[in-house]
Amino acid sequence: MGFREYINQIDKEGLLRKVDLEVSKKLEIAGILKETEPTPVMFTNVKESDFRVVGNVFCTKGVIASYFGVTPAELIPMLSKAIDERSEPEIVSNAPCQEIIEPNVDLEKIPILFHCDKDGGNYISSAVVVTRDPDYGQNLDFHRAMQYSKDKFATRIVKGRHFDKFLEKNREVEVAFCIGNTPNILIAGATSVDIGVDELTIANALEPIKVVKAKSVDLIIPAEAEFILEGKVYFEERHSEGPFVDLTETYDTIREEPIFEVKKITHRKDAIWQALLPGALEHKILMGMPREPTIFTKVNATGVKCLDVNISPGGSSWLHAIVQIDKKTEEDGKKAIGGTFAGHTSCKHVFIVDKDIDIYDPLSVEWAMATRFQGDTRMIVKDKEPGSSLDPSAEPGTKMTTKIGFDLTKPLVVKGKSFDIAEFPKVDLNKYF
Ligand SMILES: Cc1cc2nc3c(=O)[nH]c(=O)nc-3n(C[C@H](O)[C@H](O)[C@H](O)COP(=O)(O)O)c2cc1C
Repeated sequence: MGFREYINQIDKEGLLRKVDLEVSKKLEIAGILKETEPTPVMFTNVKESDFRVVGNVFCTKGVIASYFGVTPAELIPMLSKAIDERSEPEIVSNAPCQEIIEPNVDLEKIPILFHCDKDGGNYISSAVVVTRDPDYGQNLDFHRAMQYSKDKFATRIVKGRHFDKFLEKNREVEVAFCIGNTPNILIAGATSVDIGVDELTIANALEPIKVVKAKSVDLIIPAEAEFILEGKVYFEERHSEGPFVDLTETYDTIREEPIFEVKKITHRKDAIWQALLPGALEHKILMGMPREPTIFTKVNATGVKCLDVNISPGGSSWLHAIVQIDKKTEEDGKKAIGGTFAGHTSCKHVFIVDKDIDIYDPLSVEWAMATRFQGDTRMIVKDKEPGSSLDPSAEPGTKMTTKIGFDLTKPLVVKGKSFDIAEFPKVDLNKYF
């Protein structure tokens, strides 16, 4: 299903709220989206643009699971399978995303939102970015882009990203920023797999897609997207980028980042701009969820049976992982901690729990910490390792951090004390009230 079809579907089901009053792309739309999340909202009357804006579309695991027709618990196995069983999308020659080819590039006509008052500019935050390297082929990832002129952005490219490698090697790289995508493409773009894997094949394995050749760059792009911004990113040419509210809901600093020059804009008729609120629920889900299958796989590879993984929103959906295991030996907790850090290298704190703990309930996890954990024997401290550049408390510039694994599982041999929640007698209240 394309993004447009999905929006029409939730509209018919009464799940889409509409704002027909004139609203500004500067702060106002972001404010409304924040107040209304996780409800999807469409803005039909944007002051500065003829295009409509929609946001809060995929804010919860429940919504994403229902998009795919599965339960939230089935998402991790589904993503793992798609990564393993990738498939080539169908190439078409006529694509909705190219229905209109703008004669000139003028970014002012597009409702690129200004989200928070101290932001450095209007930001694209929902774009899935397609790039290509002569040796590795195509890559998909996300890069926020701060607009600073009618045809240019400064785009944030974290060191080590596959696009960063392409750029460092080739010095300038053709790009297509694709906006208005469904969860199969969004999740594929947020997945980190081996360099050389075109994540469009993961998207296609999640749900078949059509792709098309871009108009002015040598790239294959999702045919059903709403907007495509084609152009080039230059390694040497830089512009200040930021401040920007990032995943941790704190302002990220100003850096000199590569310039993205837009050379062609194509879009659907009556195109809808997909807004994605930085640091809010949708951003968190898209960042964290694709790391859960990689943790799941790495923990299982240590020989410990992993039952479920939650990269929890309280940890900004990036810095904390709660991992449920079926503990068989006393070493399992520590092995699982190692597997989790291997599956998500930006993770800072890992919590390993037994199968009786609800990993989606912070109180349940805290209870396990309070009653099953001892700091001297059940904690692994990894002093000064590379962590996440998003963590304000990591060393500025180097992202060095201290990682800690907490084994919150109960001991297999219980010496007198009980570690299980006691059950009260079951009664039929109707008898008494
Ligand atoms: C909504 C969203 C926004 C993101 N923004 C950026 C960004 O601005 N810069 C960046 O380098 N990574 C960003 N990321 C993370 C990468 O796109 C993501 O980790 C991706 O999987 C890296 O792909 P790669 O392994 O092909 O390099 C973002 C991810 C999401 C989900």
